[in-house]
Amino acid sequence: MSDFTLFLGKFLRQGTAIASLAPSSRWLSRATVSNIDWTRPNVVVELGAGTGPITRVLAERAAGRSRILVVERDPDFARILRDRHGDHPDVEVVEGDVRDLDAMLRDRGVAQVDHIVSGLPTPSFPKESQLDLFRVVRRVLKPEGSFNQITEMPLVYRGLYRRFFEEVRFVFEPRNFPPAGVYLCRRIKPAADRS
Ligand SMILES: C[S@@+](CC[C@H](N)C(=O)[O-])C[C@H]1O[C@@H](n2cnc3c(N)ncnc32)[C@H](O)[C@@H]1O
Repeated sequence: MSDFTLFLGKFLRQGTAIASLAPSSRWLSRATVSNIDWTRPNVVVELGAGTGPITRVLAERAAGRSRILVVERDPDFARILRDRHGDHPDVEVVEGDVRDLDAMLRDRGVAQVDHIVSGLPTPSFPKESQLDLFRVVRRVLKPEGSFNQITEMPLVYRGLYRRFFEEVRFVFEPRNFPPAGVYLCRRIKPAADRS
């Protein structure tokens, strides 16, 4: 079965838990990691990796210098990710729910991360889960780090990310099915969960 067929089937069955009709294109995947300076070593966490189009770009760019932790809840997607990237020395696939991100990082001795890349259906999360996610992001993301979130609803959720970050830049990518984009966010607000 192709990635597209698998993805579409899961979307039709699970709706907002998958939140996308198809895997991200190569162009959207590249735009999603464009905030990252690959000339230096980075610890990058990818959340909601699906079949791994962004993971592939991260694995290519890591080049033996960076560490990529990939979190995916769906067992079928996690198996595909392990099959494709399990042997890559810079990539670790973690099958689990982002709700347990804190523990996943702690178990791996990761106190701080340079960048977070998210394919999660963040706007569909209940408010409390959004707050929990950004509490962990605030704690682990380095001050100069970035949080990068794909979206298939261009610009609609800008307000959501503006609540959590001082700097939110939106990049539209028409070369995706459907046309999509990415929020490139920096400087998380200290008290975002009270705003
Ligand atoms: C919109 S898809 C993005 C997939 C991939 N990153 C891409 O760009 O094609 C969202 C992904 O987030 C995963 N996901 C949804 N909720 C999750 C959660 N609570 N914890 C971990 N992964 C989750 C879904 O299983 C799905 O693979």
